[in-house]
Amino acid sequence: MLFLTIWLEVTEDRRIGYNFAPMKINQITDSNLKDVDFNQLDFGKTFSDYMMVMDHDGHSWSEYSIEPLKELSFHPAMSVFHYGQAVFEGLKAYKLDNGKVNIFRLHDNLKRFNKSAERLLMPQIDVSQALDAVKKFVELQREWVPNRSQGSLYVRPFMISTDNTLRAVPSKGYKFVVIACPVGFYYSVPLRVMINKQYRRAATGGIGYAKAAGNYAASFYPSNQAKELGFDQVLWTDITDDFKLEELGSANFFYVKKGVLYTPKMRDSILNGITRNTVITLARESGMEVYEEAISADRIKSELAAGEVDCLFATGTAAAVTYINELMIDDQLFKVNSDTYAPIVQIKLDLDDCKFGLKNHDEWNVWV
Ligand code: PLP
Ligand code: COI
Repeated sequence: MLFLTIWLEVTEDRRIGYNFAPMKINQITDSNLKDVDFNQLDFGKTFSDYMMVMDHDGHSWSEYSIEPLKELSFHPAMSVFHYGQAVFEGLKAYKLDNGKVNIFRLHDNLKRFNKSAERLLMPQIDVSQALDAVKKFVELQREWVPNRSQGSLYVRPFMISTDNTLRAVPSKGYKFVVIACPVGFYYSVPLRVMINKQYRRAATGGIGYAKAAGNYAASFYPSNQAKELGFDQVLWTDITDDFKLEELGSANFFYVKKGVLYTPKMRDSILNGITRNTVITLARESGMEVYEEAISADRIKSELAAGEVDCLFATGTAAAVTYINELMIDDQLFKVNSDTYAPIVQIKLDLDDCKFGLKNHDEWNVWV
């Protein structure tokens, strides 16, 4: 019977194309779980018991190793500290009331990880092995996945360059690490956002589409200025004099005008958000018209001034669907009751159902 169960699991995994990851697991002796209040989770501050690590020596990857979470120690000349070869991903595991856990769209995050790595001349990971490894990593820590009313388990894979040299050359060695945090809800109230025409987050031909650490570093100074003016986020624009809308610091941008959904067309200075793609799919399935197009700051400004905008919102793994109720453009503040616009309120609920595997999109689910 036991044999049959194992065999069934193996055949089921093969059917959906898993390639089993070579792995060693070093068990913890004492869990930190008892110290965590799952009803008071600040984003990114509480870490689960384990980390998963794999090293690249310039030729090939080692096996995966799941180990108790601990500090890593590095030489001060380590390449990432100086030249910033660092990429990451963010994805979430959700727990249903029956205890089953769904890692949402893991395949897509791993594929995007490789795109980011390629742009920074870092090694590729084997997606199907990484999928198997992350699945095992989450499985081992399923008790760390909050329940639906509390939040989710945020999983953060990242890769850094590890050669100890001050030569400004690509590293040969790399470390791939996965850590996880039980998290609550990132934004609890609608946002106040501003367009800042003085700064850009990314440029055409640059690394904006990669989930590279440097993109976030570049956004902090202007984002801090926005905070000092009372805004939560900057809505970034492209480098042209049209100031075409791009995205927020950690989320993609959408708005609804006269019942039609618009979002900036993908380009190499924008992160191709997985939540963005999910929302576009769900909106189209709900019968909404969706356009991905170039949207200048002047265009949305005149649409807002004409009272044509029904809803503004941002999408992301951490942000989910977060409403934007205030948008400042050129010293003019526009207010929109985004959080009461019923069609998007419904899409937000549908998105939530998808994450818990309750919609008809099994291709997005990795069950643990
Ligand atoms: N844009 C940026 C800059 C982000 O950091 C994120 C978050 O991951 C997103 C967009 C949204 O992407 P996703 O929906 O894949 O999380
Ligand atoms: C995510 O939504 O996964 C992100 O990467 C946002 C993060 C920068 C907080």
